[in-house]
Amino acid sequence: MKAIVYEEYGPPEVLKIRNIDKPVPGLHQILVKVKAASVNFGDLRARNFKNISAKNFHMHSLFKFIALMMFGFSKPKKRVLGSEFSGVVESVGSEVSSVKPGDHVFGYLSANMGAYQEYLCVDDKICVAVKPPVLSFEEAAVLTYGPVMAVGVLKNIKINPGDNVLILGASGFIGSAALQILKSRGAKVTGVCSKNKFDYVMNLGAENVIEYKNGDYLNSSLKYNLIVDILGKGDFTKCRNLLKPGGVHLFISFKTAALFNMIKTRFFGNKKVICKIAIGSRDDFLEAVQLIENGKIRTGNLSLFPADDVVDAHRFAEAGKNTGPVVLTFD
Ligand SMILES: NC(=O)c1ccc[n+]([C@@H]2O[C@H](COP(=O)([O-])OP(=O)(O)OC[C@H]3O[C@@H](n4cnc5c(N)ncnc54)[C@H](OP(=O)(O)O)[C@@H]3O)[C@@H](O)[C@H]2O)c1
Repeated sequence: MKAIVYEEYGPPEVLKIRNIDKPVPGLHQILVKVKAASVNFGDLRARNFKNISAKNFHMHSLFKFIALMMFGFSKPKKRVLGSEFSGVVESVGSEVSSVKPGDHVFGYLSANMGAYQEYLCVDDKICVAVKPPVLSFEEAAVLTYGPVMAVGVLKNIKINPGDNVLILGASGFIGSAALQILKSRGAKVTGVCSKNKFDYVMNLGAENVIEYKNGDYLNSSLKYNLIVDILGKGDFTKCRNLLKPGGVHLFISFKTAALFNMIKTRFFGNKKVICKIAIGSRDDFLEAVQLIENGKIRTGNLSLFPADDVVDAHRFAEAGKNTGPVVLTFD
């Protein structure tokens, strides 16, 4: 069967189409004929992990060390990228009762990766579910990682109807899901992103969009109850002025300064910093699926590339030419 493999870290050209053995499902496994897989933040990062500078790594360096332990220090341990997939169940192990051959499914593989191949074996206990019929395979393939992470990081974050929220990174996988979850809780969301993604973010339900270039959002006249900072690019000392009393700056990517501010604001001041990690649990995934089924989370502006054109797809996404999610399609 066809797979996209990589044996060295580097630019998109390290991704090669190869023939590898078709996997055979174990007792608790599902064999999926993959129809679509996303090209997301994690794929672009994992493809070139070794060469990402500390400055361009948005998390504390401890996380980079952990990531390199998982993905390989000098060369990739996992040969096949892709953390999100959709497809058709081909066969199941004898202990699987949650799905059956012919079912249309979608799922999130987290750091295990492996969606960039024609057939994929997944454990039935991971984040995998029957695809809501309202979604195409291509849409389903971009609606697992972002929604499950957004559900996780927004857990226990209080929002009241009418609250103002600013999302720094509203056009990305997690930000676009967070926008819609917060909107479904009654928030009025201002999205911050690149200009070419304004339409996408407005169509997902933002009240307002602002560019991050030149720090334009810092001049916003609105005051916010919550700032969701996807890449940790917002400086709390500057963003503090954008928060209402009692407001929260939620970092989902954070370095030492944000952690320090989280501790400091626990004891001082009436504006808080929170640094939060999502674990990507099956429960969070099922909550995300429910939101999708209820029409609360959707996607749009997909850029589709046949799997054979994976190098072009990675180049396109890395250059930020997309106006929404990038998807690889398999025959
Ligand atoms: N805390 C957790 O549990 C957790 C879990 C998973 C991932 N993460 C972190 O989440 C981040 C990836 O999120 P993602 O997958 O949603 O990424 P993504 O799809 O690449 O989206 C990134 C977003 O950030 C925007 N952006 C780029 N530069 C910016 C800047 N200077 N200021 C403000 N916004 C900027 C992008 O806007 P344009 O594309 O419009 O330019 C886009 O909206 C990583 O840092 C990762 O470590 C955290």
